[in-house]
Amino acid sequence: MSTHPPDQISTQRKAINLHRLRELYAAGEKLTMLTCYDATFARIADDAGVEMLLVGDSLGMVLQGKASTLPVSIEEMAYHVRCVAAGNKTAWVIGDLPFASYQQSPAQAFEHAATLMQAGAQMVKLEGGGWTNDTVRFLSERGIPVCAHLGLTPQSVHALGGYRIQGKSDAAAAILKRDAAAIAEAGAAMLVLELLPSTLAKEITDLLPIPVIGIGAGIDCSGQVLVLHDMLGLTKGKLPRFVKNFMNGASSIEAAIASYVSEVKEKRFPDNGLHGY
Ligand code: KIV
Repeated sequence: MSTHPPDQISTQRKAINLHRLRELYAAGEKLTMLTCYDATFARIADDAGVEMLLVGDSLGMVLQGKASTLPVSIEEMAYHVRCVAAGNKTAWVIGDLPFASYQQSPAQAFEHAATLMQAGAQMVKLEGGGWTNDTVRFLSERGIPVCAHLGLTPQSVHALGGYRIQGKSDAAAAILKRDAAAIAEAGAAMLVLELLPSTLAKEITDLLPIPVIGIGAGIDCSGQVLVLHDMLGLTKGKLPRFVKNFMNGASSIEAAIASYVSEVKEKRFPDNGLHGY
């Protein structure tokens, strides 16, 4: 039973949808995203004002203790999307298509994207460059909003030779710019850029007509995403240099997440120049 007085109820925010995200983007407001894997954290992050909850395949490392995201299955992703959707009221929920669930064909991607959408996702995310264009187009034309993911793409960690900054050479930067433009043209509604020089991330953000959400990509992206357990100081061992522990000085988890939201909105997070793992 709710004990909220009526004035608190009336200030509750309306559900975030793609239209609202586009309005915020067009108005130049920074967008906030956090990874989330369960109902409790979904409720807390939603109450703290995060606009987008990403049920990331990082759950393979964060929750399952695996060495990479590669072993995560579509069934596991669907389970965690259901948990997040159950705890969330207003945030936009994005489900990651895990490794080997979309690489074969657009039809394979559609089948697994449908599994995530039926579990409660409102958008799916997939990793990769030009080879994903047909899939992005196929899903978008069939009513599934797609978030692309370029730069450091953790499902390709073995091909990339580790968790390294991407796009450092002129040639690599040119390929990333070309791929980003093509993916937006194919219909992607959003793009995550992971671990790029901030100058390159800014160029791509300025080039694209869709929100670009950065992680380790500097302050000039349209918004930011962090792994929840990293920004709450729960991850042991060496952390990426761009991560900030928002629990420092916070009185609660909700307060820490609210600080993340306000620091992103006020362009105080991230500090430019902090890159690398
Ligand atoms: O799976 C994940 O958590 C992600 C973010 C790092 C963007 O893809």
